[in-house]
Amino acid sequence: TPLPKLFEPLTIRGVEWSNRLLVAPMCTYSADNGKATDWHLVHYGSLTLRGWGSVLTEATAVVPEGRISPQDAGLWDDEQIASWKRVTDFIHANKGKAGIQLAHAGRKAGTQTTWVVKEAGWTGGLIASDENGGFAKDVYGPSPITFSKGYLQPAEATEADIKRVVDGFAAAARRAKAAGFDFVQIHGAHGYLIHSFASPNTNKRTDAYGGSYDNRVRLALEIARAVRAAFDGPVQYRISATEWIEGVAGAEKQFEGEKEEYAWWGIEQTTHLAAQLRDAGVDLLDLSSGGNDARQQVPVVEAYQAPFAAHIKKHVPGLYVGAVGIINTPELANSIVERDEADFISLGREILRNVDWPLQAAVQLGLTPNPAEQYRRGWAEREIAG
Ligand code: FNR
Repeated sequence: TPLPKLFEPLTIRGVEWSNRLLVAPMCTYSADNGKATDWHLVHYGSLTLRGWGSVLTEATAVVPEGRISPQDAGLWDDEQIASWKRVTDFIHANKGKAGIQLAHAGRKAGTQTTWVVKEAGWTGGLIASDENGGFAKDVYGPSPITFSKGYLQPAEATEADIKRVVDGFAAAARRAKAAGFDFVQIHGAHGYLIHSFASPNTNKRTDAYGGSYDNRVRLALEIARAVRAAFDGPVQYRISATEWIEGVAGAEKQFEGEKEEYAWWGIEQTTHLAAQLRDAGVDLLDLSSGGNDARQQVPVVEAYQAPFAAHIKKHVPGLYVGAVGIINTPELANSIVERDEADFISLGREILRNVDWPLQAAVQLGLTPNPAEQYRRGWAEREIAG
């Protein structure tokens, strides 16, 4: 029987993936001043032991004010490199590949981790206070528009802030290389800084970084080029393909007079930017959605974002494509890559429920699973011995 495509290897820029599965980046809010801790070593290390050929670590801030919370992972300082090297060394020693998501939370920065607030019994909402590690005065976005209740009002990013961000992404990419990461992903989705600049919904600037489409995606492309120049391995970019606010009451009015095909960020713009990112040296586009407008209406159904991946795969040749979002069964994941609608499938929440998913998927798709040697008897042997 032919190998199910989900388990076909693929090499990009000299990095060989043993299968088409990616661990979706998921914040764990367990860092110590940006540094990886024992938590990260055990959490990401265990994923490698359980068949995840490649582990993509959580959103990692490229400058301190780009953290969602004070507990976020970071790579804004050389001092943080060694803590991450410890994690990638373990992954490599167990035949895995390691990627890191480089991020800036923009106007969604500066909140507090919910469980930290609960445990400490802090009152006064989710904004991280100065005494609890907060950095409210440093938070900026494209325009001084608050995301929603419970978030800070950002300052309008200055030209110096923008330069600091681009340089921050480049420096973090260099540190990612030094920390042993095989690939990096730029977080351009979910209403964080890059997405909020790209969208006319949230970018009301009148300088070279706002207004026209070309101006709004300037930051995305500068970051993509800077990361490409700083990192010689595969570079991925995660994008929100739509903001899911078409037809939402109030949305039309707010954008009266807009000349664009969308007054928010949609699939046409995504497709256009995909080709530009490819030309800037991005290898793979990971298709997520939403996160930029609290009024979003997301159709939460199985594989709800996979059509965006298929669209990019069809219309933007020469770019690898990732699909993510409620793709929980091996059959569904495999069928998407078999139909050539995506090259990689990411799983997020399912991993948190079922860490052995890749090994079980291999069995379900008729393969012999290939666990860590120390676990092999659990998968191969029937009788109990020695
Ligand atoms: C996420 N997600 C996410 N996305 C991202 O790009 N960077 C991140 O750091 C995080 N953090 C995060 C934390 C947690 C706890 C969850 C559940 C999700 C989104 C995630 O990568 C994925 O796109 C979604 O969860 C949808 O995929 P699933 O969960 O349906 O497989």
